[in-house]
Amino acid sequence: MLLKTVQINNLRCFERLDLTLGKKSTIISGGNGTGKTTALEAISLVCQGKSFVSNRSGDIVRRGSSGASVIAAGETGISDPLNIHVRKKGVKTEISLNGNPIKKASELARSAPVIVITSHAATLLTEGPDKRRALLDKTMFHVEPNYIEEWKKYRRALRQRNQLIRGRNLRKIHRAWNEQLILIGEEIDRKRENIVLRLNAELKSKTISKFFGGLFFRYSPGWNREKGYRSCLSQSWEKDEQLGYTTVGPHRADLALCDKNGPVVRNLSGGQSKFLVCFVLCSLAKYIFEETAKKPLVLVDDIAAELDDVFITSVLNMLLKQEGQVVLTSIRSAELVGFSKNVDAVLQLDQTQYKDHD
Ligand SMILES: Nc1ncnc2c1ncn2[C@@H]1O[C@H](COP(=O)(O)OP(=O)(O)OP(=O)(O)O)[C@@H](O)[C@H]1O
Ligand SMILES: [Mg+2]
Repeated sequence: MLLKTVQINNLRCFERLDLTLGKKSTIISGGNGTGKTTALEAISLVCQGKSFVSNRSGDIVRRGSSGASVIAAGETGISDPLNIHVRKKGVKTEISLNGNPIKKASELARSAPVIVITSHAATLLTEGPDKRRALLDKTMFHVEPNYIEEWKKYRRALRQRNQLIRGRNLRKIHRAWNEQLILIGEEIDRKRENIVLRLNAELKSKTISKFFGGLFFRYSPGWNREKGYRSCLSQSWEKDEQLGYTTVGPHRADLALCDKNGPVVRNLSGGQSKFLVCFVLCSLAKYIFEETAKKPLVLVDDIAAELDDVFITSVLNMLLKQEGQVVLTSIRSAELVGFSKNVDAVLQLDQTQYKDHD
């Protein structure tokens, strides 16, 4: 996918803003509150049908307006014209692709993989495991069309087991649900592990070894591998009954960044964490491209925050090396001077862009 133009209407501070994106890279620059994050939010909204900041219309629709819309024009991977229109009004999100209405945002997201590196990206490593599981699953969603269906089936089987341990809906319970839980759970685990293997191969690269010694991800599947999922499920029955939920399975998996002495997350600085998250997300963009030939669009908010010159240069090099388009924001474009020479478009935002016209 190649996005060429994005028209933003009544989104947050913008009554109307037209962006023309560079073929490979674009910097959106401007002071605090000029709408840099909003511009990225608009791009994510039009490509994924949802915002990475908030999905509540009340938050994102411009105050005093009844609805917001974003219209993007570009090309698909095979150079066919691409027109996407996303409109948020009340609880409704209406999406159309080349004039045809789309029911599920996931259909849109599948055609245009987007990777967002937010200004609080480092929390991916430091906060609970949900975000890390979601990242693996989102990557798999782009690589394997059936993955989302597998997840839904797993969730359904998990719900059934949880109802059983809570003593409800006994009649509906059947051994088949348990079998499904095991079958799909092991399959999800296998797929996630493939991604982790690729990430670990990337972590051996010079970009990382220049700054860190021997980093790797340790993936915990959510059960004891040696015992196997089936036996862990049956052994955890009493404990699960007491707690009222299923404590083993891929819904409990986690990913820990380690060196030879164990997990490192608590010992990383803010800048180091952000750098590593940028590296991981760029590696996943590369993985998606290698597996599907789809070029992910990478959106990076406030790239320079927390990074020194050495880390910024390294992150920018990574971003330019990967196949897809990159749009990044920065308060001071001067911080990206060396890089700016190589970007296709620098868009400057200022307060006048969203002054009331009435
Ligand atoms: N629903 C809304 N209606 C009108 N204005 C809004 C709405 N939501 C947010 N804003 C305003 O939009 C402006 C742009 O916010 P945004 O977060 O995009 O700025 P930014 O350039 O990323 O700033 P920073 O450098 O501080 O991150 C802010 O001034 C904010 O107050
Ligand atoms: Mg911002």
